[in-house]
Amino acid sequence: MSWIDDKAHTELARIREAHEKQLYTYFRPFESGGLRTTVAGKSFVNFSSNDYLGLTNHPKVKEAAKKAVDQFACGLSSSRIQATTTAHVELEERLAKYFGFESALMFTTGYQAMVGTVMALADKDTTIILDNLSHACILDGTFLAAGTPTRQPEVRFFNHNSVKSLERVLKTKERKNALVMVEGIYSLDGDMAKIKEIVEVCERYNAVIICDDAHGSGTLGKHGRGILEHFAIEGKVPVVITTFSKTFGGIGGVLLGSSDVVNHVKHTARSFLFSASLPVPIVAAAATILTMLEEEGPALVAELHEKATYMRTRLGELGFDLGMSDTHIMPVMCRDERKALFMHVALFESGVMMVPIVYPGVKLGEERLRVNITRGHTREDMDLALDLLDSYGKAFFVQSGEEIGAMIAE
Ligand SMILES: Cc1ncc(COP(=O)(O)O)c(C=O)c1O
Repeated sequence: MSWIDDKAHTELARIREAHEKQLYTYFRPFESGGLRTTVAGKSFVNFSSNDYLGLTNHPKVKEAAKKAVDQFACGLSSSRIQATTTAHVELEERLAKYFGFESALMFTTGYQAMVGTVMALADKDTTIILDNLSHACILDGTFLAAGTPTRQPEVRFFNHNSVKSLERVLKTKERKNALVMVEGIYSLDGDMAKIKEIVEVCERYNAVIICDDAHGSGTLGKHGRGILEHFAIEGKVPVVITTFSKTFGGIGGVLLGSSDVVNHVKHTARSFLFSASLPVPIVAAAATILTMLEEEGPALVAELHEKATYMRTRLGELGFDLGMSDTHIMPVMCRDERKALFMHVALFESGVMMVPIVYPGVKLGEERLRVNITRGHTREDMDLALDLLDSYGKAFFVQSGEEIGAMIAE
């Protein structure tokens, strides 16, 4: 055995232990797509999906993708430099128009869009200022830039969503240009960025904001245009990055900005230039969902909000702690790893999937179940989940917050 096998074996101790205790809950292979699916023949309703408007499995979306397979197959065998199609160009133009930016650029994933954009924009004249709950793609783009000899921005953090803390960093930054990174909705906590105040402080310090609106696109604002529409600050944030992997039914990243900025990233971002072009069936699926948003966005978004409000109210009545959430992403806080894992297993056995999020995904003491309400969930789905959460929550002391007890621990 080589040292890499030894190393991997040692580092997998925690995973082996979880398997032995039958508490390993990840990578379960679904047997079909959609919110209602099966694992090993067992049916369940998925409450950890990001298909927020429930459009991923819409017949029109699947039909558009099938048609595109006939015309363009499943891949273009190259990167966008030599594998751009009319479908890519048309959708980029439509996305820019819909979101209210001069220009848009599609990457193969949202992760790549963020990493490539940060790498392209941040250099030794830049201080990147990050919220301390930033998504991995923001952290990775930042650390990659910091570790690249030709880039090397200064890296600073501010306390989550704290405008005061951000201002303190802006006052003491060491480089000329500030790049402030925020998310529209923080994906694990479900809270919106205090972006109005953040914009105001950034204007005072001449700092540029990049907003990752992966979870706000299609879910916030009357038409679903995201966090900027929600707070009526369209035009005040120069760069937004979003994804097709949530509301838009597939996979793919989108950079939105001015023509010059987008063009610069297009000719500089290595995660764009050196990775294969987004397959056209995926482009066609996203384009179909964009048409739905253009034609009936307000009704789709309103339906999502109505369902989220119902679930939030009921969870509150049942005594659950939803942490910082103020959106359709409403983590059920367990604040104990065993409680989160036991809850997940019990719920799953009863036909409800709520993925447990434990350390190091979140800090110790902040363990939770991922609960995302989507437009695709029915009242019956939510009532089933609520009844089960209530019973198992009481059994595992989730609502009361009491210690789970030594006997259960063994
Ligand atoms: C906040 C945030 N940004 C970016 C991404 C990455 O998006 P993608 O799945 O398109 O790579 C995600 C997805 O997990 C996310 O939650």
